[in-house]
Amino acid sequence: MRPVTEDEGKGIVMKIQVANRIERLPPYMLGKLKQLIYERRRAGADVIDLNMGNPSDPPPPAVVDKLRDAVLDARNSRYSVSAGVYNLRREVAFKYRRRWGVELDPGAEVIATIGSKEGFSHLCLALLGPGDTAVVGDPAFQIHNYAIVLAGANVLSVPLGNDQAFLDRIDRVLDTITPKPKLVVLNYPHNPTAITVEASFFDSVVRLADRHQVMIVHDFAYGETCFDGYKAPSFLQVDGAKEHGVEFTTLSKPYNMAGWRVGFCCGNLDMIKALATIKGYYDYGIFQSVQIASIIAMRDSDDHVLEQALIYQKRRDVLVAGLRKLGWDVVSPLATMFVWARIKEEHLAHHDMSSVNLCMAMVDEAEVAMTPGAAFGEGGEGFVRIALVENEQRIRQAVRQLDRVLNRGRSLAAAHRPAESRSTHAE
Ligand SMILES: Cc1ncc(COP(=O)(O)O)c(C=O)c1O
Repeated sequence: MRPVTEDEGKGIVMKIQVANRIERLPPYMLGKLKQLIYERRRAGADVIDLNMGNPSDPPPPAVVDKLRDAVLDARNSRYSVSAGVYNLRREVAFKYRRRWGVELDPGAEVIATIGSKEGFSHLCLALLGPGDTAVVGDPAFQIHNYAIVLAGANVLSVPLGNDQAFLDRIDRVLDTITPKPKLVVLNYPHNPTAITVEASFFDSVVRLADRHQVMIVHDFAYGETCFDGYKAPSFLQVDGAKEHGVEFTTLSKPYNMAGWRVGFCCGNLDMIKALATIKGYYDYGIFQSVQIASIIAMRDSDDHVLEQALIYQKRRDVLVAGLRKLGWDVVSPLATMFVWARIKEEHLAHHDMSSVNLCMAMVDEAEVAMTPGAAFGEGGEGFVRIALVENEQRIRQAVRQLDRVLNRGRSLAAAHRPAESRSTHAE
């Protein structure tokens, strides 16, 4: 369509008309929070940022060494293959066999993605279009909704769970909605709620998928970040899974390689093929040196993965104990790098019953950043998600600062303001 100008011919501001798919996106609730964190930091505050699940610990040293070597080989600077080099995909298949007893054909049932977020988004584009519907639990990791919307399809939100009642809710939706939803998005261990499942849950999922002929996409980003001996099951380990769906894994969390952008989609042949087709048009693959180093990560770093999970487990213990002392009702999670905490009624009431308001106020007054539950959907209101991305000492400090503001009504932010504008409750 021809662009509209405010005053044609006079070189005055042109109105840019973006695509409808951008207009259809729900408002990004975390923008203001991120801006506030940035502003407080610029003003000199030491904000303890537990907002984003951005790993802060280092990747395995052998992986970094391999990357350094690979970069020196000029051949690795060429375009790579969009599906990922064969040896990388084969390493993924080895890992699935070793950890979950799953057999995968690296040539057809495994594809590398530029992080699982990219892979998930492009898979939605490959499988869904206008008029299609996908079922997603509420609350949900944002991209599980956004990618469906960006593909032009509709999201059908179902209150989240990890039990038969949740599957019954999906069952009812699949029975009653016309046209029937094409796809169900699952994510266990779950972001943000950290709820987990056992393999028998996926048996029921496969039965449901079979009954309704619906595709399953399982996001398994936290499959290796497990605590207290819990072992998260892979969706692909249950009989019949590959006939109905795929599973995403990532190197971001278990290996602290979030910025490297390496993920995988494994499982159903036709779904992988559709994703490969879209990716073949859109991208030339991950930087080859990164792919080579990623092979080393999966081949030689099982110990690192276990140690990293233990680090999160210890931080979880500190945080859960601290939050309970604050008076908050918290379930200690068995997996992920998050604690999902119900905000104490009285604290929520002080902030107009809004997790967003509370989180904004905590950045400002306690210098602690957490993610408001409402940012993950209606079902998240009344909760906050706290990422275990700072060390135990900083987490203790964060809890002390929250306690000071929430339970003692003393603001840290006020203490940092210039003397003339300082309020009376400053320390
Ligand atoms: C559930 C879930 N899936 C996917 C991702 C994105 O992972 P990646 O870095 O592989 O794109 C995240 C990141 O926080 C996540 O929490």
